[in-house]
Amino acid sequence: MERTYAMIKPDAVKAGNAGNIIARIEAEGFRIVGMKQIRVSLAQSQLFYVVHEARPFYNGLTEFLASGPVVAMVLEKDNAIKAWRDLMGATNPAQAAEGTIRKLYATSIDENAAHGSDAPETAAQEIAFFFTTAELV
Ligand code: CMP
Repeated sequence: MERTYAMIKPDAVKAGNAGNIIARIEAEGFRIVGMKQIRVSLAQSQLFYVVHEARPFYNGLTEFLASGPVVAMVLEKDNAIKAWRDLMGATNPAQAAEGTIRKLYATSIDENAAHGSDAPETAAQEIAFFFTTAELV
């Protein structure tokens, strides 16, 4: 069993799609090990996305993540990292496959409804960034 960090971003929470996305996560056989709705500060957002610091979209990206509540989750499944990325669909919703979360709920590459870790090392880092061990049940 593998764990990944998953996050429903401010656009999808604001649009009232968090429940639909959580239902889909359960329907696809993930176990939700941790989940909370939180407001990410700008400082936290800048740290979370520090790997993108040099990219032209960094400021907009970090401000967006801090712009409203998000739902932070830890998901467990066989190959959870890839399974969650497949379920989200392509980063740019214009390229996302039919039925994926980003195809259904994202409006642009900047406001793309969901985030998922891209590798085991980043999953471990991102889980620890948002959750204490006691919050993972
Ligand atoms: P996420 O998976 O959260 O990781 C970084 C985010 O940057 C990504 O989703 C997109 O929402 C955003 N982003 C904006 N422009 C780009 C781009 N050109 N390439 C990759 N990510 C981008």
